[in-house]
Amino acid sequence: MNQQNQLYARLQVTTTVVLLLIILKSFHAQDADFWNQQAQDNMKRILAKKHNTNVAKNVIFFLGDGMGVSTVTAARIYGGQKVNKSGEEHILSFEAFPEIGLIKTYNTDLQVPDSAGTGTAFLCGVKSKAGTLGLNDHVIYSNCTSQRGAEVTSILDWSTAEGKSTGIVTTARLTHATPAAAYAHAARRGWEGDTEMPTDAQTCKDIAYQLVMENSNIEVLMGGGRRYFLSENKTDPELNYAHRYQRKDLDLIDEWISEKQRRKVSHRYVWNKKQFQDTDPETTYYLLGLFESSHMQYEYARDKSDAGEPSLREMTEKAIQILSKNPKGYFLLVEGGRIDHAHHDTRAGRALEETVALDEAVTSAASLTNQDDTLIVVTADHSHVFMMAGYPSRGNNILGKVDDSEGDDGLPYTTLVYGNGYEQRKNITDIDTTDFGYRQESLVPLYSETHGGEDVAVYARGPMAHLFVGTHEQSYIPHVMAYASCVGVNKQHCSRTPPTDELTSNLASIRQGDAFLVLVFLCIVNVMHCF
Ligand SMILES: *[C@@H]1O[C@H](CO)[C@@H](O)[C@H](O)[C@H]1NC(C)=O
Ligand SMILES: *[C@@H]1O[C@H](CO)[C@@H](O)[C@H](O)[C@H]1NC(C)=O
Ligand SMILES: *[C@@H]1O[C@H](CO)[C@@H](O)[C@H](O)[C@H]1NC(C)=O
Ligand SMILES: *[C@@H]1O[C@H](CO)[C@@H](O)[C@H](O)[C@H]1NC(C)=O
Ligand SMILES: [Zn+2]
Repeated sequence: MNQQNQLYARLQVTTTVVLLLIILKSFHAQDADFWNQQAQDNMKRILAKKHNTNVAKNVIFFLGDGMGVSTVTAARIYGGQKVNKSGEEHILSFEAFPEIGLIKTYNTDLQVPDSAGTGTAFLCGVKSKAGTLGLNDHVIYSNCTSQRGAEVTSILDWSTAEGKSTGIVTTARLTHATPAAAYAHAARRGWEGDTEMPTDAQTCKDIAYQLVMENSNIEVLMGGGRRYFLSENKTDPELNYAHRYQRKDLDLIDEWISEKQRRKVSHRYVWNKKQFQDTDPETTYYLLGLFESSHMQYEYARDKSDAGEPSLREMTEKAIQILSKNPKGYFLLVEGGRIDHAHHDTRAGRALEETVALDEAVTSAASLTNQDDTLIVVTADHSHVFMMAGYPSRGNNILGKVDDSEGDDGLPYTTLVYGNGYEQRKNITDIDTTDFGYRQESLVPLYSETHGGEDVAVYARGPMAHLFVGTHEQSYIPHVMAYASCVGVNKQHCSRTPPTDELTSNLASIRQGDAFLVLVFLCIVNVMHCF
């Protein structure tokens, strides 16, 4: 045996031993030792945690549309089961973020919110009425003239004003509620294109028009919704016909291109995966990607070929690469827009697949950036009436039936169910509930399942992430992102000279000294407590 072979054999033995140890360890994974050790490690990590009070050069804001806490739990199990784990012990990337808070999602006029009102809250910093975008509560829904004077600005505007680059990435239409709240003002979220404007709203501009004609500074725009940009006289390259919602006034894609040409800035318009992949982020400063006539495809059905579409992770990576060229940093909004659509259809499998796709985008963003200078925030606009119930055994397929259990009606039932929605109770004995087309059952019959009203979580990593701890109004979110990145109001704290290490440690010892004096004082006042 030569030396190399010996080394190889030894390597094989070592690998086998390590694998055996891992298997033994996982076999005993539920021992008391395991949980005690895990808890102790976790506690030590948190005890060692320090607040990150750096300035956030960059902010990446992830929004899972409809990603309530029950969705996060189920997606975590789903994600774990996808890699052959039991699932419950798995965590999504953002669940490992150091800070978490809860968000109250109601609109000014609705107990259970709509996504336009919530978008205005988490991007513009003020709560408003359901169905309205980038306008304060003085607006009357669907009333064009009431928009005047009610306009509010967003963190995207505040970031632009400080010379930062900005980007919007979504799997929904770029004119849909969440992205639109970042740049548009509309008394009705449905005003996505000129073909959607009623005759009594002619003095208001549609959302796609506002994006291209009034927000030419936004560097990166990727998502669906091509029909609201494309002229009625042009054939949609994927549909091979002109959709009835295409524009009657002008072609906004041409407008976007010619504006960049006039400014002589490097730019690119793409509508399929190949063109997307061929876009060099080093030499591209402006990117417009419109990958579908309407929303982009669900991840489970996504065409991954050259003619297809990029994933949310791929779009996020490209956006970060393009925006990172700005030495002043950037603000990037990334929306997993179709978790919500799958839930409205009561198709839980699709919703969980979309959530895992969002998680993969977060994983990438976290690895491409540094928590010393980049704040990453992950939250949802609202929840859904989505429940995880029964007593399924550990490791039971999250999309499956609850073991051999039956309801009082003698029928099996799934772990995942909805409070309202399309599909009514029936005999599912012979039905494969893990199919992406399956609709989970619901209590109240409704064609489209509704949003849920309980709080959603906000997960954060990076500068000022600790400001999210606690229960907050949704409108609080952009105020923190702005404070952290020194844009918008109260950015004056950014001009302060940060304390040196020496100063900090001196302050810490003074504080310790104070604590000791207070303790002595308390002991004198209440001798009993000290002994
Ligand atoms: C999980 O197990 C199945 C069946 O044993 C196998 O086909 C699949 O490749 C495994 N997946 C992973 C990610 O390990
Ligand atoms: C629309 O709003 C305007 C101004 O706020 C108001 O005068 C008008 O009556 C409203 N129209 C309708 C139909 O409510
Ligand atoms: C389409 O063509 C017609 C006829 O030439 C023209 O009137 C209309 O303005 C065009 N639409 C767009 C969006 O350019
Ligand atoms: C449900 O369907 C299965 C399989 O078709 C059948 O055996 C069972 O009796 C049905 N249950 C009820 C309560 O109808
Ligand atoms: Zn919705």
